[in-house]
Amino acid sequence: MELQVVEQIAEVRQAVNGARQRGSRIGFVPTMGALHSGHVSLMEEARRDCEFVVVSIFVNPTQFGPKEDLNKYPRPFENDVALCQGAGVSLIFHPQPVTIYPPGFKTRVEVTGLSSVWEGAFRPEHFCGVTTVVMKLLNIVQADVTYFGRKDFQQQLIIKQMCQDLDWPYAIQTCATIRDPDGLAKSSRNVYLSPSERQSGLSLSRALFHVRDQIQSGNRDVLQLQQAMRQILDGTPGVIVDYAAIINSDTLAAATEYQPALTAAIAVRVGATRLIDNIELP
Ligand code: PAJ
Repeated sequence: MELQVVEQIAEVRQAVNGARQRGSRIGFVPTMGALHSGHVSLMEEARRDCEFVVVSIFVNPTQFGPKEDLNKYPRPFENDVALCQGAGVSLIFHPQPVTIYPPGFKTRVEVTGLSSVWEGAFRPEHFCGVTTVVMKLLNIVQADVTYFGRKDFQQQLIIKQMCQDLDWPYAIQTCATIRDPDGLAKSSRNVYLSPSERQSGLSLSRALFHVRDQIQSGNRDVLQLQQAMRQILDGTPGVIVDYAAIINSDTLAAATEYQPALTAAIAVRVGATRLIDNIELP
C-alpha cells in the first residue's frame, strides 16, 4: 500500500475509517519525528499486529519548557518519511501546530501525582503537555492499539493511567528500549552529543546494567545498589546527575528494599543535552 502523508485531522479520520471498513486493524505510533531504530521498532511491532499503521510526527510545543530545545529539535522530515515507508507504515499525520492548538484552545489533560515526580520534578509542565497532546492524538486516530517505548518509562505509565481514568476503550502497548551496540539508548537527542559527550553518555547504560547484573547475582541491597549507580555516574567526566533511583514500577515510589517490579531510572545532563534511561530489574 502507498504511504500517505496528511496534515489535516479530517484526512486522518477519512483514511482510518476507510481502512477499518476494509477490515484492517489500526495501529498507531505517536512520535516527534527525528526517527531512529527505536521508533522503527515500534512501527514494526505495530505492523505485526495491524494491517494499517499510522505514525504521527509532531514536535509538540507544550511539552517543552521555556529553556528547552523546542526550536533546535531536529526535524529531518524527508528521512523520517523514508523510514516510515521502509517500516510498512500506511499513513503519516504531520500536523501544523495551529491544527493541534487552534486559537482559543483551552483544555489541559493532567495526570496528578505521577506527573510531578522524577522527570516531572525537573520538567514541571512536561507531562501535562504530553498527556494533553497524546489524548488529542488518540482521539484523532482512534487506533485499536497505540504503541509507546519503555525508554520513556514514566511517560508510558502516565499515559496508561490517563487512558484508564478517562475510559479510553482501546489498547496501549509498551515496547522494549532499543540501544546502540555499545548500550546507549537510541534517542532523537543523541545527535546533539559530541564524540566525548557520547562517551560520557555510556555511563547511563553502564550503571543500569551493573544494577541488573548485581541483582541477578543475588544482591538485594537496593540502597547500596542505588549508591553504586550514583558512583558510576558521578565518576564519569562531564555528567551531571538529575536523579539515579530504584523505584517501584507501578507507583514510581523510591524503593528502600527489594520488592517485585522494580525499575532503575536515571536522568543526567551531558553538556547541554539531557539524557534519560531505565531498566526493568529482575
Ligand atoms: P518521541 O521522543 O519521538 O518518542 C516517540 C516514541 O518512541 C515514544 O513512545 C518513545 O518512548 C519511543 N522511543 C524513543 N526512543 C526509543 C528507544 N530507544 N527504544 C524504544 N522506544 C523508543 O515520546 C515522545 O516522542 C512524545 O512525548 C510523544 C509521545 C510523541 C508526545 O508528543
